[in-house]
Amino acid sequence: MEGLLDACMRDILTEAGGFDLCVTEFLRVTDKVHPLKKFRRVCPELDRGWRTSAGTPVVLQLLGGVPEVMAGNAERAVKLGAPGIDINFGCPSKPANRRDAGAVLLKDPGRLYDIVKAVRAVVPQDVTLSAKIRLGYDDTSLLFENVAAIGEGGADFITVHARTKADGYVPPARWEWLAKIKEVSPMPVVANGDINSVDDYRRCIEISGCKSVMIGRGAVSNPGLAGEIKAALAGELPIKLDWIHIHSLLTGMAESRKETHDDCRIAMRVKQWLIYLQKEYDEAGQCFKTISRLNAYSAMSPLPL
Ligand SMILES: Cc1cc2nc3c(=O)[nH]c(=O)nc-3n(C[C@H](O)[C@H](O)[C@H](O)COP(=O)(O)O)c2cc1C
Repeated sequence: MEGLLDACMRDILTEAGGFDLCVTEFLRVTDKVHPLKKFRRVCPELDRGWRTSAGTPVVLQLLGGVPEVMAGNAERAVKLGAPGIDINFGCPSKPANRRDAGAVLLKDPGRLYDIVKAVRAVVPQDVTLSAKIRLGYDDTSLLFENVAAIGEGGADFITVHARTKADGYVPPARWEWLAKIKEVSPMPVVANGDINSVDDYRRCIEISGCKSVMIGRGAVSNPGLAGEIKAALAGELPIKLDWIHIHSLLTGMAESRKETHDDCRIAMRVKQWLIYLQKEYDEAGQCFKTISRLNAYSAMSPLPL
């Protein structure tokens, strides 16, 4: 997730457990094949065999609308050892959509087909190719055509954020549409959107019929969520991580950025995470209140428990 789940956060969340796979923030692709340093910036894990510190594989996400250039970047990523390529057809951001990338492409299934086919041509079968979509741009009228285009283009699976671009992030995610996709498409569908608890997971699986889910904001608010889901699947009682544990993750996140980020940027990251954490932990709300006026991490450290 752009601006939120960078390599540092991927390390922390996958160390907390429960994830089978994670995806980078998007690498924006416009008119050229990026140099190595750009791939490394989006995915520093490429120097560790494309795995987080916990050993979880990391897939590279590409965002762009020009088939040949998308393919060129995918080919480079594969040469660098990427275990998978994910194509972002869901990004709602105005700058991206204005420049012909992200959700705007859902208006034209032919474009999706061309992009996926071009990328598949350079991504061997042992490297997964997936696409992330929304239900549509303004509405769901092209959903099944879009899914078919991606399948015919050669994607191995599809992740569907169960909202249109017009829906933005307004709840609830419409999981029932995922079941409709599964009726018409042989491609595996990964369900995404509003899975914030084990109960949400269970309801989503039941309504959508999907076997796999992608969790985003829910894992940022509750870093133990993937582990809780895995525990529930194993028939164990899911146990929520306590605030002391979360506080140590938060402090670890801030401390580990000291070599790469300045004091102000670390403070911003701490506040950003606390805003998510306070949805699940009252103590995070208290902590946020105490430090909200401070703009340097050195001034807020040690973070209040
Ligand atoms: C701050 C933010 C950044 C995001 N960045 C990306 C991104 O780079 N690539 C992507 O596929 N989705 C991105 N998303 C969308 C999420 O992956 C996900 O589809 C959406 O938040 C719904 O799932 P959730 O309810 O589990 O968060 C982003 C969402 C947010 C809130």
